[in-house]
Amino acid sequence: MAKKPGGSSSNNSGWSGKMGYVLAAAASAVGLGNIWRFPYLCAKYGGGIFLLVYLFLVLTFGYALIMSETAIGRMSGKSPIGAFKYFKNSKLSAAGGWINALVPFIICPYYAVIGGWVLKYLVGYVTGETQAMATDGYFGGYITSNTQPELYFVIFILLVLVVILGGVQNGVERVSKVMMPVLIFLAVIVSIYSCTRPGAVEGIKYLFIPNIHNFSIMTVVAAMGQMFYSLSLAMGIMITYGSYVDKHQDLEDSTTKIEIFDTLIAILAGLMIIPAVFAFNGGDPETLSAGPSLMFITIPKVFAEMGFGTGAGIVFFVLVFLAALTSAISLCETCVGTLTNELGWSRVKATLIFGVFSLILGSAASLGYGVWGDFTIIGMQVLDFLDFLSNSVMMPIAALAICLLVWRVIGFDKMEEEIGRDSAFKRKAIYRFSIKYLAPVSLVAILISSVLSAFGIISI
Ligand code: TRP
Repeated sequence: MAKKPGGSSSNNSGWSGKMGYVLAAAASAVGLGNIWRFPYLCAKYGGGIFLLVYLFLVLTFGYALIMSETAIGRMSGKSPIGAFKYFKNSKLSAAGGWINALVPFIICPYYAVIGGWVLKYLVGYVTGETQAMATDGYFGGYITSNTQPELYFVIFILLVLVVILGGVQNGVERVSKVMMPVLIFLAVIVSIYSCTRPGAVEGIKYLFIPNIHNFSIMTVVAAMGQMFYSLSLAMGIMITYGSYVDKHQDLEDSTTKIEIFDTLIAILAGLMIIPAVFAFNGGDPETLSAGPSLMFITIPKVFAEMGFGTGAGIVFFVLVFLAALTSAISLCETCVGTLTNELGWSRVKATLIFGVFSLILGSAASLGYGVWGDFTIIGMQVLDFLDFLSNSVMMPIAALAICLLVWRVIGFDKMEEEIGRDSAFKRKAIYRFSIKYLAPVSLVAILISSVLSAFGIISI
């Protein structure tokens, strides 16, 4: 995504218009994270209480971090590594930039594995397997079957690489603008259907009514990881985007819009999936904690019961596929951008080497559910480990680096001046409090607790 969307240079903004940045940031934010990841984490880690913690984090921490990253990008005019060096040219500062830049390298390969699963389901609906895909155990059987999941993963990653090499991302931007409203429309229909099934009310209650008994430290760890993931934070994307933002744009207002949009889609996805668990499985705790497979278990059941289920399935998975594809393209583009800028590689070389890297890591993630199932890292299968490594370990460190950059190097006065350039900075107190206290304390706590629990030293 290291390019100037819109391409116009008649004003000093790289974005096509006032809404350009908001739309582009929202298009990056909305992806599998909202539709696939949010519902399963919410179901697994406490329902309403998870939602409450998530909303609190988005409004304080997420808000402060988006604005910081965008402002850092706008001040320096650079992508993450360059931006960190711009403010302080030291090894430590460069390391802060690198940790941000490396996160998408870990996410992209396994994102493409999930993209492959989505593609398989799309093909399944097209070939009329609507009923078969709704049977219990279908998904588990599928992901452990080795050849097919690997094949779909390879197709998915090749599609991404072809687009990157072909340089047609501009078209992709346009596609995602049309796609987004259709996706929302369909999500509303499916969630209404799902919420009106007999027994679904319990699911709606589970999603919206916080129950303190469902709370554990994992609720906070998972919610924070999800916030980074869903808002594309702590990985340099927003710094890069910020470097294209017009000097006169109101950052606070744009941030609020992005957050509302992203969170609404996540809640909508929760409403499609969680009530269905209650309607079809009676809220079975095992299904609720199904993890990454949840969407692939419940959504097919909804479609199998619906009139026009096959048609709805096709449209739904086309949209999820496109959302996943556009997000994977921007993840890949970020990695290629880092390699070309920092190592001086040509675009083709960077894309090819990154492609091989993704194929290897992604294959390990895909086959890790099948033939390589015995190979686990600290008790986790490869895909789960990559997700854990990026979201629970690297992103907290990357976010900490940003907080320190703001607090110790740039200073609040300068940040606040940048954010409040043309319009009053309204939530200054929340901003300072988040960056100075809330963020560092919770980031360190999360880092320590997730690492200790991964090594089995504490159980959370
Ligand atoms: N936020 C995206 C989602 O919810 C995933 C993502 C994370 C992403 N980082 C990104 C997408 C960078 C594009 C670019 O699915």
